[in-house]
Amino acid sequence: MKHLFIEKDKQKPVFLLLHGTGGTERDLIPVAEHIDPDASILSVRGNVNENGMARYFKRLREGVFDEESLVSETETLHQFLNQAAKEYDFDRQKLVALGYSNGANIAGSLLMHYEHSLRKAMLLHPMVPRRGIAYPTQDKVKVFIGAGHNDPLVDKSETEELVGLFEGQGIDVSVTYTNHGHALSNEEIASAKAWYEQNVVHE
Ligand code: MLT
Repeated sequence: MKHLFIEKDKQKPVFLLLHGTGGTERDLIPVAEHIDPDASILSVRGNVNENGMARYFKRLREGVFDEESLVSETETLHQFLNQAAKEYDFDRQKLVALGYSNGANIAGSLLMHYEHSLRKAMLLHPMVPRRGIAYPTQDKVKVFIGAGHNDPLVDKSETEELVGLFEGQGIDVSVTYTNHGHALSNEEIASAKAWYEQNVVHE
């Protein structure tokens, strides 16, 4: 997959950055560097092209996903992460996903399809990526969810459904709601940073 890797302190976690629809692998770098300037960065560009916009999987329309594409692209990303960990010599369990919107959805899909695919994840404005399958147990996995009270793409009931599904997998979930629709805000990023310091740095 098209990606970039920025090596920093080898003792620190490695951020896995996953952009929103139409984004690139550079979008979330300032957010990651604000949360932890010393953590290495693996940032992956979505493989799917929707009218010139990069995404991680196809969709039929806004909020309705192409399940076949979701499943196969989730597997591709999962395998890519194993290869990247070998190539760049880091422990895959040190990955901390930071995904926004479509990027948060593929990170959620990794957690719903593969046991211990991620141990820590910060999901900003995620949806429920997959329903109606047997989800794997995810012991000792922690997830931060940033949601919007007034997010036009993700209703509060969907955020609550996602929290319930993750908790059913044994995931420790923290949710913060802000008032900026589907957009990222400084307030949400400050909450993510506080969660990171408490749950990743001082776990
Ligand atoms: C998705 O397709 O993953 C969601 O609708 C969010 C987005 O548009 O990126």
